[in-house]
Amino acid sequence: MGFRVGVLISGEGTNLQAILDTVHGREGIEVVCVGSSKAGAPGLGRAERAGVDTAVYARSAHADRDARDAALGNWLQDHSVDLVVLAGFMEVLGGSFIQRFGGRIVNVHPSLLPAFPGLRAIEQAIEYGVRVMGVTVHFVEEGVDSGPVILQESFEPGATDDIESQVHEIEHRLLPRAVRLIAAGGVSIDPAEPRRLRVAE
Ligand code: GAR
Repeated sequence: MGFRVGVLISGEGTNLQAILDTVHGREGIEVVCVGSSKAGAPGLGRAERAGVDTAVYARSAHADRDARDAALGNWLQDHSVDLVVLAGFMEVLGGSFIQRFGGRIVNVHPSLLPAFPGLRAIEQAIEYGVRVMGVTVHFVEEGVDSGPVILQESFEPGATDDIESQVHEIEHRLLPRAVRLIAAGGVSIDPAEPRRLRVAE
């Protein structure tokens, strides 16, 4: 059956596109569904063009967040996903969703966590004036942009650089790489040190 991936988005979906272009249909990995928290998110069109099943799970269409999370979780489970990838999914998922897919949810975030979690991470880092910026891919636990780190990559922004595109260029390599690693069984947790993942490429 291969390794089945569900991707959740809220917007553009350039990270989704990177996964579709470099991971989907290779090494036994299949993107089987793409869910969006926003109707009309451009990323939905990217999924449709790749022939991947899509659905919208807007918070406003459900009684509360838990109800939305439960419906979204059922949909992902119906697709028998092995991994849930948050690729610009800009909403917090509740504890029951996290537990339901325990250890099988990854997120990409445009900063070197634990610095600058939450919204506008790139702007936060620029405003702070940091000399080193970067990207984190991590397993998701409860809390905003928190959980054990799988991969990180840093860079030193120059004064005249287009920082956003540098961040996105890293994301588009790092997130697919993390998905490939997990699918190949290259990421494991040492129960004695659960935050320090073993990553073997
Ligand atoms: C990406 O930069 C991703 O790291 C960020 O949203 C963007 C989505 O872009 N995610 C977060 O900030 C999560 N806290 P995309 O829709 O083009 O992939």
